[in-house]
Amino acid sequence: MSAKLSSPVYPVTWCNDHVQLIDQTKLPGEHTVVEIRRSGDMATAIQTMIVRGAPAIGVAAAFGMYLGSREITASEPALFLEQLKEIGQTLGATRPTAVNLFWAISRMLKVAQETSGPVSEIQAQLLQTALAIASEDVQTCKAIGEHGLSILPAEPQKLCLLTHCNAGALATAGYGTALGVVRSAWTADRLARVYADETRPRLQGAKLTAWECVQEGIPVTVISDGMAAHCMQQGMVDLVVVGADRIAANGDAANKIGTYSVALCAQAHQIPFYVAAPLSTIDFDLPDGSQIPIEERHPSELYQLGDLNLCPPGVEFYNPAFDVTPAALIAGIITEHGVFKPEDVQSKLQHLAHR
Ligand code: MRU
Repeated sequence: MSAKLSSPVYPVTWCNDHVQLIDQTKLPGEHTVVEIRRSGDMATAIQTMIVRGAPAIGVAAAFGMYLGSREITASEPALFLEQLKEIGQTLGATRPTAVNLFWAISRMLKVAQETSGPVSEIQAQLLQTALAIASEDVQTCKAIGEHGLSILPAEPQKLCLLTHCNAGALATAGYGTALGVVRSAWTADRLARVYADETRPRLQGAKLTAWECVQEGIPVTVISDGMAAHCMQQGMVDLVVVGADRIAANGDAANKIGTYSVALCAQAHQIPFYVAAPLSTIDFDLPDGSQIPIEERHPSELYQLGDLNLCPPGVEFYNPAFDVTPAALIAGIITEHGVFKPEDVQSKLQHLAHR
């Protein structure tokens, strides 16, 4: 099904009795909406990155849990819960790094466990919770954007921000985290330009971040990942802001592969490097980033460009999708509750987490 996307962009929406996903594998060339009616199809959509970005896959998984609850035939609540857990396992097996996925599945399971009454009542509560997760995420992103204004240096008046991957509306329920900060800066007339790393191998920066900025008239310059250091050396970048897929209790932050290099370059040029993420991205159970599971994706992402095979036969590949930026390189973590130093994340935020 094909449709023109409306602005603002909502990548995961509930529509009467099914979910509509913007097919992010087709942007920016084609604006296609995929209809999802079954939990297995939602798992496939997450795995194949039709929907991607940590908060967005959390929202998608929440709706996947509700869709799955409609597939269960057991009418006895204990058996129903067992089968719902299995659906949660299938959804959770899609992508290992973004903790929002597991956060959303656990929240849905908890609601199911705590709802008394017949299965129909549990299903009704699951739908309400998935809808709440989606609308809370948009509000959360807007709050992140607002708090992000406080980290903008006073000079120059119009700043150049650099970002990596896509942490925009497409990666959340709407508005975005890192791109939420960009949006707020733009609205406050504090933004000259965004540099968007193209983000090899899947090009989320070139395809998605650039597309979102163009939609809103935000000036955007796409650079290849290897150009970020040069741009910083040339004095073209005032501040870096990126999203995150999982932040450990000590503030180490996993984000799209290449983020760590950007952080190192920023440090070398005394450019502040910030991470923007909701509380649902913080994994208080992991003491540090060394234990964050890093997804490895298929090598074809590296050697295939459309129909073109880039490398000679016999080459081996390594394709980790994420890396971990040590807390020491992060000036602050911008959350919906304010901006925190990485070392303060646990003491100041853990008590607010949805557990
Ligand atoms: O592999 P992806 O496209 O799902 O990776 C997305 C990112 O790394 C984003 O920066 C992160 O999820 C933050 S999204 C607000």
